[in-house]
Amino acid sequence: MVIAAILAGGVGKRMGDIDKPKQFLEIGGKPILVHTTEQFVRHNRIDHVVVLCPEEWIEYTRQVFRSCPGLIDIPVISGGPERNDTIMNAIGYIEREFGLDQDTVIVTHDAVRPFVTADMIDRNLDAIGTADAVDTVMPATDTIVVSADGTHIIEVPDRKTLYQGQTPQTFRAAAFREIYGTLTGEEKAILTDAIKAFVLKGRNVVIVRGSTTNIKVTYKSDIEYAETILESISRE
Ligand code: CTP
Repeated sequence: MVIAAILAGGVGKRMGDIDKPKQFLEIGGKPILVHTTEQFVRHNRIDHVVVLCPEEWIEYTRQVFRSCPGLIDIPVISGGPERNDTIMNAIGYIEREFGLDQDTVIVTHDAVRPFVTADMIDRNLDAIGTADAVDTVMPATDTIVVSADGTHIIEVPDRKTLYQGQTPQTFRAAAFREIYGTLTGEEKAILTDAIKAFVLKGRNVVIVRGSTTNIKVTYKSDIEYAETILESISRE
């Protein structure tokens, strides 16, 4: 069974002054979260979709979905304080609703990346066949420098080995729960990315290609950029 978990549990602090979390802001006259969720609902290899948002926005989200054909019955549940807690809530929901076995695959995706494509989801699902986890990435285009103190460079890694992480991130739900259970409080604070936890525990993690348009809406200026991407996609 393949379940998509749309991670909308954040509030978008880096957007500055906004009246609702960034996943509810509109592009092309439709909330970002709706664009994102629709991509998974439409995909024929996804069996179920669950959306996780801050507790106080659950009713609002349900109301938004009620006016969207195809999303009316999508379950909306509470996220957690950190992104991985939100994923753990999704896994708890999956276990309660469907049970968990070694083949239960969870495709996690940032609610604020509305331009995920069916091909990207397919690449994730093809790759998880032989791996413990799959990350969607793009080759780094800028030279990346490492600085521990924010002032001095201590390393300039070879760009050919560097990639920028996107989502979807796909893994076996039971494996993530097992790994998460072994992390100390300190590790949990550092390992905010689920894939990083798989890597640090020595699991087999593979990468698949994302896209330059698979942006994460983070700052206010990204809304304008997202509108431009949406327009160019609509013209294709
Ligand atoms: N997210 C989540 N649960 C959390 C924190 C984040 O599901 N406890 C989700 C966000 O809603 C978002 C995705 O993870 O869709 C990527 O996170 P990010 O862009 O950092 O979102 P925010 O945490 O909302 O942004 P900020 O860091 O600016 O507050």
